[in-house]
Amino acid sequence: MIFLIGFMGSGKTTVAQQLSEKLALPLLEMDEEIERQEGTSIKDIFSRKGEGYFRQKETELLQSIKADSVVSTGGGVVEREDNREALHMGKVIYLQASWETIDSRLSNDTTRPLWKGNEQDKKEKFQGRLALYERAADLVVNVDDKSPEVITDEIIRRL
Ligand code: S3P
Repeated sequence: MIFLIGFMGSGKTTVAQQLSEKLALPLLEMDEEIERQEGTSIKDIFSRKGEGYFRQKETELLQSIKADSVVSTGGGVVEREDNREALHMGKVIYLQASWETIDSRLSNDTTRPLWKGNEQDKKEKFQGRLALYERAADLVVNVDDKSPEVITDEIIRRL
């Protein structure tokens, strides 16, 4: 089992797709699976039912994973202790991006409910997560200025 972790916009979804193809393992994109189960978007789940409800679904999904697969997690998966423990069932790869990379990639994003507020609010969320990702990671891969192909190949080399 391979888990990709990292902040929103770090490229988890794209890299997970490529890894799953190259390693011939099934792909699980957790946010997409939650959207499928709930029949609506992440944004809508947050606005109708709140972050706590979403986090509960995220934990249940994580704990239900049995098959060897490449898992693209949501950026907040490291926030709960339960989740951090569950990640130990696999190899945890942290896609590490600088603030500049994230801020420019998400500059026009309106789909992520927690990418909100002023620049300061966003930066605090980013900085508050860094230590959690680092602590959870078995492998750290810097993604700044790299294509998904280059990142995928680097991960495979370092697995
Ligand atoms: C979140 C990240 C999102 C999604 C939800 C919450 C977060 O996933 O799970 O909006 O708390 O960082 P991505 O990392 O795929 O954007």
